[in-house]
Amino acid sequence: MADQKIGKIKSIAGPLVIAKDMRGCEMYEVVRVGQEGLMGETIKLIEDLAYIQVYEDTTGLKPGEEVVRTGLPLSVELGPGIITNFYDGIQRPLLGIKDLAGDYITRGINVPGLDAEKKWDFMPTVKKGDELVEGDIIGEVQESKVITHRIMVPSGIRGKVVEIKSGSFTVDEIIAILNAEGERIELTMKQKWPVRIGRPFKEKLDPEVPLLTGQRIYDTFFPIAKGGTAAIPGGFGTGKTVSQHQLAKWADSQIVVYVGCGERGNEMTEVLLSFPELDDPNTGEKLMERSSLIANTSNMPVAAREASVYTGVTIAEYYRDMGYDVALMADSTSRWAEALREISGRLEEMPGEEGFPAYLGTRLADFYERAGRVVTLGREKRYGSVSVIGAVSPPGGDFSEPVAQNTLRVVSAFWALDTNLADRRHFPAINWLTSYSLYLDFVKPWYDKNIDTEFQILRGEMMALLEKEAELQEIVQLVGQDALPESDRALLEVARMVREDYLQQHAYHEIDSYCSKEKQYLMLKVIMGFYQEVKKAIDGGIMASRITAMKVKDEIARMKYIQNPEFPRRYEGLIRSIEDEFESLRSDR
Ligand SMILES: Nc1ncnc2c1ncn2[C@@H]1O[C@H](COP(=O)(O)OP(=O)(O)OP(=O)(O)O)[C@@H](O)[C@H]1O
Ligand SMILES: [Mg+2]
Repeated sequence: MADQKIGKIKSIAGPLVIAKDMRGCEMYEVVRVGQEGLMGETIKLIEDLAYIQVYEDTTGLKPGEEVVRTGLPLSVELGPGIITNFYDGIQRPLLGIKDLAGDYITRGINVPGLDAEKKWDFMPTVKKGDELVEGDIIGEVQESKVITHRIMVPSGIRGKVVEIKSGSFTVDEIIAILNAEGERIELTMKQKWPVRIGRPFKEKLDPEVPLLTGQRIYDTFFPIAKGGTAAIPGGFGTGKTVSQHQLAKWADSQIVVYVGCGERGNEMTEVLLSFPELDDPNTGEKLMERSSLIANTSNMPVAAREASVYTGVTIAEYYRDMGYDVALMADSTSRWAEALREISGRLEEMPGEEGFPAYLGTRLADFYERAGRVVTLGREKRYGSVSVIGAVSPPGGDFSEPVAQNTLRVVSAFWALDTNLADRRHFPAINWLTSYSLYLDFVKPWYDKNIDTEFQILRGEMMALLEKEAELQEIVQLVGQDALPESDRALLEVARMVREDYLQQHAYHEIDSYCSKEKQYLMLKVIMGFYQEVKKAIDGGIMASRITAMKVKDEIARMKYIQNPEFPRRYEGLIRSIEDEFESLRSDR
């Protein structure tokens, strides 16, 4: 039987529509459902039946209405105008952030991802006669106050430049013509790409370059690499959103793609409304000037939420291909997984753990695997990266649930937020005993070369100190502090210093919000230098209580508030104060 371009609605169940007479329809093909032409995507095919997830409210649809195939997969439009924009999960622009809170009605309206009217100033960087291959940059557009958009030859295309324009154009106007062995190829500033397929590159590189975040707990203890993956799981109110915002602001990536999945009312405000308010300390502009925001709220259909992470990562890959380091934040992937669960339930699939589909793990892996640092397409050697950082919000803060467990299996850095720490106002509330990073060894050569070979040694010693503290605390709980030898009591004192003066970092403090790698190194040296002196003093018969009473401890506690560039100058003074006070301890014994 011939392929059918038009089918009919058989039944409707919330976001899921089953259509008949759909033989020949492809998986993940976009279809138009009903009289209003609601947008949907085929997610299951059985004989002539197509199971369609619809990206819009399906109220009012009736069996018998038409379903029209488009023959195309779900795709995004790539070109200037993405940065500073807010989108829904399938790249429909939201007019403004107020759309998020207000009524959201775009049923059946076909709004393009890129503004078709807007003119952009295109500056060519190639000339007539140049031979181009896929990925080559043909020109530039100032996309926002801080981002230069590089227009690339789309993948699969090569040829000789016959004509190249300069001036003001819309994304649909022709800016270049190539001759590909006699065939004439017209280029515009717009490309399309199917969201469920990763964009091509030449080579994936090992995760050897850290994505520095300016946050001590990550950079020192649990680093993420450029092109790496990390998860931030945490119970209610433990600091997922603040952490994501801090990373968006301070990580050394040029582009931020922020996928906000909100559910409850307060989350929506937290996740979506606050992001556009963030300032970018590096440029003095709003962070939105180098960001794109993809928003899902509870009043938007669940299917669009399922698609949103793919839309986000495709946009991220596109900027990677220009040669940028991109950070993709998803807050929270648990809300995304819930959308997956709802759709799976409608498909009447066999439920896995806690009702999530059995393929939850595979889907999470597919998403995180699109992270990477690559050599891009194009003749000029360009590097770009997509780092993916997903927040997970397990109900009740219990990490044994399926989303947290499956995420843990696929990410290489795990930053576990801890409800107890958050309750004690220890922020960021990352538990240093349960968190980990598999990038530590990969980035070591970079740290050795760009900071100091001593950095990771001190990091190891500091971690050992914290582990010892945890052991001692168990003993203290059983027998009390008095049972401990002087050396252990002194150790507890230093461990407290590590927690309060190093691990705690105030997101809202003008200076402490960002800590440079040089400052981190010197702060490590101060505290671990102090620890060496403590050990010597205790060996020399000095009581731990005298360590506790030392004045220089206050000076150490205040060092995080010293400006980054000023720190190296102040460092010597700090070391001298420490030595002097130990000297006087010894002399008036
Ligand atoms: N690094 C930090 N510095 C200072 N305060 C912080 C930090 N991290 C979290 N907080 C405090 O914790 C509060 C809750 O953080 P946040 O909203 O990020 O939690 P969440 O895990 O996203 O919560 P939800 O479960 O509601 O999404 C913040 O309003 C802030 O007061
Ligand atoms: Mg939050």
